[in-house]
Amino acid sequence: MSKILVTGGAGFIGSHLVDRLVQEGHAVCVLDSLEPQVHGSSGKVPDYLNQNAQFIKGDIRSLDDVRKALQGIEIVFHEAAMVGVGQSMYQIRKYVDVNTLGTANLLEVILEQRYEIQKLIVASSMSIYGEGSYRCEACGIVYPSLRTKEQMQRKDWEHHCPQCEKVIKPYTTAEDKPLDATSIYAITKKDQEEMCLTLGKSYGLPTVALRYFNVYGPRQALSNPYTGVCAIFSSRIKNNNQPIIFEDGHQSRDFINVHDIVEANLLAMTSDAMNYQTFNVGSGQPITILEVCNELCRLYGKKDLKPEIQNKFRVGDIRHCLADISKIAHVGFSPKISFQEGMEELVEWGKTVEAEDLVEQARKELAEKGLVQ
Ligand code: UD1
Repeated sequence: MSKILVTGGAGFIGSHLVDRLVQEGHAVCVLDSLEPQVHGSSGKVPDYLNQNAQFIKGDIRSLDDVRKALQGIEIVFHEAAMVGVGQSMYQIRKYVDVNTLGTANLLEVILEQRYEIQKLIVASSMSIYGEGSYRCEACGIVYPSLRTKEQMQRKDWEHHCPQCEKVIKPYTTAEDKPLDATSIYAITKKDQEEMCLTLGKSYGLPTVALRYFNVYGPRQALSNPYTGVCAIFSSRIKNNNQPIIFEDGHQSRDFINVHDIVEANLLAMTSDAMNYQTFNVGSGQPITILEVCNELCRLYGKKDLKPEIQNKFRVGDIRHCLADISKIAHVGFSPKISFQEGMEELVEWGKTVEAEDLVEQARKELAEKGLVQ
């Protein structure tokens, strides 16, 4: 039995991790600020939060709160973060403050009790890659930069080879792909990962960074319009509104179920072979946004609700990113939940919760700032 702190433990990923750690018999403490954008303005602890975990309402940016939460702790999972990519492009200070400086704060307190803490696992993100890896028939593996606005305005959605201009196909993205953080959110995630690993290596504190791909599952904040596409589409569909598809809907992502993410975290906690390294955590399967949309409409029993394909685009969006999961497979992880099963669970849960559809409002906000065109 270990004494474990989960920062952001009331959130989507953190709360599932807490459940699993409690189930394994660990003593778990949660530090969470109950961010209103995620948890609503009531300031109430979510109903799903595990009763057997200790809960501390506090801010990762506060030395006092973090000191209180870290008392007697042996293992830290750092999941607390602001997570809206688009929003990070104008709430710059807030994202840097919570994600980067919050991590700095956590690390300083960890150093104060560095002999008690045995392991640190930090939630990183595929966003730090920017575009995924691609393969050109003529030139081999290439790493294109983001598409330019001009290219997007021409509705020329697919990437071209940076060397020979031919259209290129997505290829699996491995951990050694050069990083290309293209949003403030991504920059702060890269900061979190690098700060934790650098401190860990310098002080001999075993640290692991897990680069989550597109995580989905129950407890996603359906009323948060700045979050991932599965939650956004769910709130549209539940309210009988057409999901809005950017580009042509054939852009793809690697969707990984939250329960698989939890298993990767448990492995990182116990495996010495993972120390001081970064790992992709994805499914290894590409799914298009149109497929996500159709599947959610079908499972919600709203097949007649056709998506609105506006051929607009979000500035800074990547086209494809698919995880190469061979590195984490090598230390014993394989995703267990198929996209089909995962979507079924998401919708079963989604039917039981209320979802306010704030998507249109958020889209307008992004459009006014020139971030949707
Ligand atoms: C980004 C981050 C990722 C983060 C995730 C959720 C990058 C590269 N990755 O992923 O780390 O976990 O946000 O915050 O920045 N879409 C629509 N209609 C909508 C909403 C989205 O068509 O209403 C499309 C987007 O244009 C995009 C795809 O769905 O092509 C996925 O979007 P999203 O879920 O926001 O995730 P990413 O941008 O992949």
